[in-house]
Amino acid sequence: MRELSLHLLDIVQNSIAAAADLIEIEIMEDFKSDRLSIKVTDNGRGMSRSVLQSVIDPFFTTRKTRSVGLGLSLFAQSAQRSGGDLVIRSKEGVGTEVEAVFQYSHIDRPPMGDLQGTLLTLIVLNPTIDLVYRHNYDGRDFVIDTREIKRELDGIPINQGQVVSWMQDFIQEGLAQLRGGRVE
Ligand SMILES: Nc1ncnc2c1ncn2[C@@H]1O[C@H](COP(=O)(O)OP(=O)(O)O)[C@@H](O)[C@H]1O
Ligand SMILES: [Mg+2]
Repeated sequence: MRELSLHLLDIVQNSIAAAADLIEIEIMEDFKSDRLSIKVTDNGRGMSRSVLQSVIDPFFTTRKTRSVGLGLSLFAQSAQRSGGDLVIRSKEGVGTEVEAVFQYSHIDRPPMGDLQGTLLTLIVLNPTIDLVYRHNYDGRDFVIDTREIKRELDGIPINQGQVVSWMQDFIQEGLAQLRGGRVE
């Protein structure tokens, strides 16, 4: 079973490949509705109607091969196996939004995986891209916005060593506080 953080990495890589320079990641863990959602919104080049069709189509066929990749298709299958679904909204020249929803308690719902490492890697390897990460856990919020961090840094690169270790602590503490010590 593929971890959700790896799917997330895939989806964000698509946004980067689409030349986005602002990518928003929103994760919602809502126990009341037993729902987990992962949404990635970008300002990249978007998809034409025909690309959007060909990307969505294979989810509903049993076809095993396709000329486009499998990232979205695998994520969609994972969501659908877990009592959820994947929705893509995209407009050419404007951007794309990919949202996967899972039934939180579903036996086939993959584990979250290493969100902290995934997020840090994305920030460090893509210093010119702005990332906003918003994670809501049972009503509590953790937000990290690289635009704000860059403003504070005033020219110091965001992938400079000390900055990276500060961000690592910030993300680690933020996510730990969110979970209130609870381990998934
Ligand atoms: N955020 C995005 N912006 C623009 N196009 C996208 C985006 N995500 C996916 N696509 C389009 O959908 C196709 C399929 O994506 P995916 O399933 O991840 O496979 P792959 O990335 O290997 O091609 C991509 O090749 C691209 O054309
Ligand atoms: Mg991909």
